[in-house]
Amino acid sequence: MKRSHAESLLYVALETEKGGLKLYETALRAARNPGLREEWQGYLEETQTHHDKLVAILKGLELDPGKSVPAQAVVRHKGQSLVKAIQLAMDTLSAEEAELVAAECVVEAESKDHLNWSLLEHLADEGPKDFAKAIREAVDEILPQEAHHRFHTEGYARELWLKHLGLPAALPPPEEEKSVETKIGAGRAEKARQDYVS
Ligand SMILES: [Fe+2]
Ligand SMILES: [Fe+2]
Repeated sequence: MKRSHAESLLYVALETEKGGLKLYETALRAARNPGLREEWQGYLEETQTHHDKLVAILKGLELDPGKSVPAQAVVRHKGQSLVKAIQLAMDTLSAEEAELVAAECVVEAESKDHLNWSLLEHLADEGPKDFAKAIREAVDEILPQEAHHRFHTEGYARELWLKHLGLPAALPPPEEEKSVETKIGAGRAEKARQDYVS
């Protein structure tokens, strides 16, 4: 394993969580659906915990959480762009459309967040002992939460869009009803959406 690359991933993951905190604060201002608001409020709190756990992991590995690696700047830029996109939507589009943009931006951010923790799971399974030990507990706790953040918001984005288009929508989305925490589960939930359409 390339140790410096694995360490860089920890910093990238930390930056993703930092960006997530700002993103949810903005996205919550655009959210109108009560179920979605409640979900995102919970995700914001979990994102803070993820951030804090990564800081503790870095410290445990004797890495400085305050240090900045080059890859972080790119993640920061992407996060700021997503926040700006929501702000632009709130300034120029209808409230209904701004909510759709916010949901799409959260899906994009959570796709990266989910990828980070999926990769960390590989390192927990296959990485060097000290590294694996440092991240194991956090990976087991956080990876299912990241899948939840990603796939449940994807469900809301799809169903809110369908409602916006005047088509039958399943709200809350089947991902929510089925408590989806895997890619396969998300596929199954979307396939079964007709059963939940009102
Ligand atoms: Fe996270
Ligand atoms: Fe997340």
